[in-house]
Amino acid sequence: MLVEELRAEIAANGGWMPFVRYMERVVQAYYGKSDRQFGRGGDFVTAPELGNLFGRTLARQIQELEGPILEFGAGSGALAHALLAQKLEREYFILETSAALRRRQGERLGTKVKFLERLPERFRGVVIANEVVDALPVHAVRWTEDGILERGVGPRLTWEDRPARGALLDAARAIEVPIPYESEIGLAGRAWMRSLAERLEQGVIFVIDYGFPRREYYHPQRAMGTLMGHSRHRTRGDPFERPGEQDLTAHVDFSALAEAARDAGAEVLGYANQAQFLVNCGITDVLAEANVENALHYAPIAAEAQKLLSPAEMGELFKVLAVGRDINAPLLGFSQGDRRHTL
Ligand SMILES: C[S@@+](CC[C@H](N)C(=O)[O-])C[C@H]1O[C@@H](n2cnc3c(N)ncnc32)[C@H](O)[C@@H]1O
Repeated sequence: MLVEELRAEIAANGGWMPFVRYMERVVQAYYGKSDRQFGRGGDFVTAPELGNLFGRTLARQIQELEGPILEFGAGSGALAHALLAQKLEREYFILETSAALRRRQGERLGTKVKFLERLPERFRGVVIANEVVDALPVHAVRWTEDGILERGVGPRLTWEDRPARGALLDAARAIEVPIPYESEIGLAGRAWMRSLAERLEQGVIFVIDYGFPRREYYHPQRAMGTLMGHSRHRTRGDPFERPGEQDLTAHVDFSALAEAARDAGAEVLGYANQAQFLVNCGITDVLAEANVENALHYAPIAAEAQKLLSPAEMGELFKVLAVGRDINAPLLGFSQGDRRHTL
């Protein structure tokens, strides 16, 4: 049982576990089960799970780029399925940490995809991470009158805070917030981006996820942070409720990812909200290919477009960040409304 394992690890570590370690354990356990996360009967619905409109539109951007595709965290395999159907004639690699989901993806996609065990030493091509960075473990931090604290977990699986140290303290000091304030710092996300960007010899990395630039992320009104549990389409505030049974996520600080990519020598090529990106890629042309006369066929596609584009749904909260190396032409997806300057 995960709860017993967590308690044992906390006891072995002097009665405390940093929150980042707790999140790593529970997210791993959560994705270790392949049967229930995705889709309408699951815990949440991602853009590729809505249908193939997202994939067909993203394919128009990929078509302008060269090389194989590497998808991180492919979930049920829905995006790979939609992209492969577009006959892009590329090799398709998946790097998925959950063995159970790897199996599920393998069953759905067969020999059309190859699985990677770890980051390749070098990569040329197109990297996609849709709703993956929000699942990477974050450090939880409290800025108080008495100093900056790292939030962690005590023996009873409740919050316990200790003074922050090292790289976390440095990162927390660099963020301007009113006091008192609680939030998250995604050091693992930054490291992920840095090592990926270092290995990218030529091509583009697309990170698609919910989040903000730093100034909005650490906004005075967001003084309780962005941690969320997801279960059965409801968000839950308590990260210690049923560990491993609910997904745990934090919003993405896109400024931090952009900085990490630049540190690795890559260039930030574009940053836009999901609606703008999909419109730039020609989602309306993809929609126009659907048979408007046939309501039965058209209604679900129109509903899908509404979810992807509406500012009240995924259109504004979700962003697309592209970083790359050795790309000379502007990217289709950022031809209008590029908000790089806000990062
Ligand atoms: C919210 S799901 C998104 C799935 C899919 N991309 C989609 O949009 O439907 C997160 C996915 O990332 C995977 N994952 C979590 N941490 C990862 C990591 N460090 N590297 C690669 N995949 C990871 C999970 O197993 C899962 O497949």
